[in-house]
Amino acid sequence: MSTAAIIPAAGLGLRLGGENYKAFREVGGDSLLVHAVRGLKAATAADLVCFVVAVPPGFEESVAKELEPYAGAARLLVVPGGAERPDSVRAALDVVPTEGIDCILVHDAARAFVPAEVVERVVAAVRGGAPAVVPAVAVTDTIKRVSATGEVVDTPDRSTLVAVQTPQGFEPGVLRRAHAAGIVGATDDAMMCERLGVPVMTVEGSQDAFKVTRPQDLLLAEALLAERRLG
Ligand code: CTP
Ligand code: MG
Repeated sequence: MSTAAIIPAAGLGLRLGGENYKAFREVGGDSLLVHAVRGLKAATAADLVCFVVAVPPGFEESVAKELEPYAGAARLLVVPGGAERPDSVRAALDVVPTEGIDCILVHDAARAFVPAEVVERVVAAVRGGAPAVVPAVAVTDTIKRVSATGEVVDTPDRSTLVAVQTPQGFEPGVLRRAHAAGIVGATDDAMMCERLGVPVMTVEGSQDAFKVTRPQDLLLAEALLAERRLG
């Protein structure tokens, strides 16, 4: 049983700001991308045999060199990403081996600190027969639906809402079908599967799998790393 991981890492990081692409920003002396690869690799029960990383065009070689020591025995492929996240995922999916892989993970480089248990839960659920799996956590804010003019339309019952994270896990044929279907406007890969009518299962996520998005998230990341290094 073998898993391939797609890591979209080609985003600009506009909300984070700064001089560099987000995946290359460093926390505790390593890039978010290195943390992300190491985090996946730590999930030994996931049997990761292949990493495919989508990076800003032009950075394929330098990233391959940087990541090589962390990939270990797993195969490492680095491809140029696209304009939007789904384009980057698709570019990576195109080179995932078609033989010998029973689970494909799609994991944001920006969710660099996901615990190994979460990765292993996702893979276990796919192997258990779920075609599409997402890690989820409860939402703590009250969420409102609003109109274009900002008026509140309604307030969905919070107990039925979750926030989803990555890695999202897929039976390989399902992910390929979802990306071949030409679905527009999906904000994650699970949503593409939903549009095809594929059932998507949730497993327990983690607060540590937060997405580094805004400057204050870097402070949180530094604190989390410092705590892990102590413990
Ligand atoms: N991503 C990608 N290709 C893109 C856009 C995003 O591979 N064209 C990746 C990012 O590198 C990130 C993940 O998708 O790992 C989640 O995207 P997000 O957090 O939105 O990152 P950015 O798009 O880089 O940030 P922003 O939206 O603030 O510019
Ligand atoms: Mg983005």
